[in-house]
Amino acid sequence: MPVVTFANTKGGAGKTTAVLLIATELARMGLRIAVLDADPQHWISRWHQQLGPNCPERLQVVPYVSAASLEREIKRYQHVVDLVVVDLPGHRSPLIAQALGYSNYVLIPAQGSAMDAQGAANVIDLLYYLQDKTGIRVPHSVVLTRINPIITTRALQGVKALMAEKRVHLLATPIVERAAFRDVFSCGETLYTMDPRHVSNLDRAQENAQMLGREVMERLMRFCTIGAAAVSEPQTVRMVA
Ligand SMILES: Nc1ncnc2c1ncn2[C@@H]1O[C@H](COP(=O)(O)OP(=O)(O)OP(=O)(O)O)[C@@H](O)[C@H]1O
Ligand SMILES: [Mg+2]
Repeated sequence: MPVVTFANTKGGAGKTTAVLLIATELARMGLRIAVLDADPQHWISRWHQQLGPNCPERLQVVPYVSAASLEREIKRYQHVVDLVVVDLPGHRSPLIAQALGYSNYVLIPAQGSAMDAQGAANVIDLLYYLQDKTGIRVPHSVVLTRINPIITTRALQGVKALMAEKRVHLLATPIVERAAFRDVFSCGETLYTMDPRHVSNLDRAQENAQMLGREVMERLMRFCTIGAAAVSEPQTVRMVA
């Protein structure tokens, strides 16, 4: 089953938040997901533990994944879920190249800043290096994170221009800066267990996450055969490119 890795060598780019939002949406669509938590901060594992029985049924989190255990965990979960998702550390580490090598699709979260764009470019360079060495091209996209829904900054325009120049695919749906996307971690909640009276613009956050989930699913279906997704039957997911 496909492996989707979230990577950016710049810390704090929004990887773990993107993993949580996208994995939750894909699980809500019916895919069985295993998130391998290789982020040394273990936010996803903590979130999952806090969430307890409120966690979407089809979503499981594998804590404390390291360079030594990554291959074993990918092989173990590839056979029991529809999608393996890997959350990586936010610094250069041998784990990044290792995870990219197992990936069928890579998502590169980046805020609208030159530093995040550089972190994204590092991942893209690694993907080209892998392609040179193995002949395998791993499809990848940048997803913009923490975007202000009202103002387009020069820095953000710069990131978009850089990605266009490098011919890197950019997801049409950015992840907007929302209190709800922070609160899911601090409260151990999902966007669907939170109380809308206590979280501003929760409905907009849900809409944003759902649009993103749909777009990522469409991208996955471009590169993978996803059989009867979003149904409760066991599903077939096969890579075709
Ligand atoms: N869309 C968003 N709206 C509001 N806050 C966000 C959003 N995305 C990320 N954040 C906040 O930004 C910070 C960094 O986000 P996150 O932990 O997801 O990044 P990361 O790339 O996984 O970091 P690291 O490299 O340290 O693993 C966190 O405090 C998170 O709550
Ligand atoms: Mg992280």
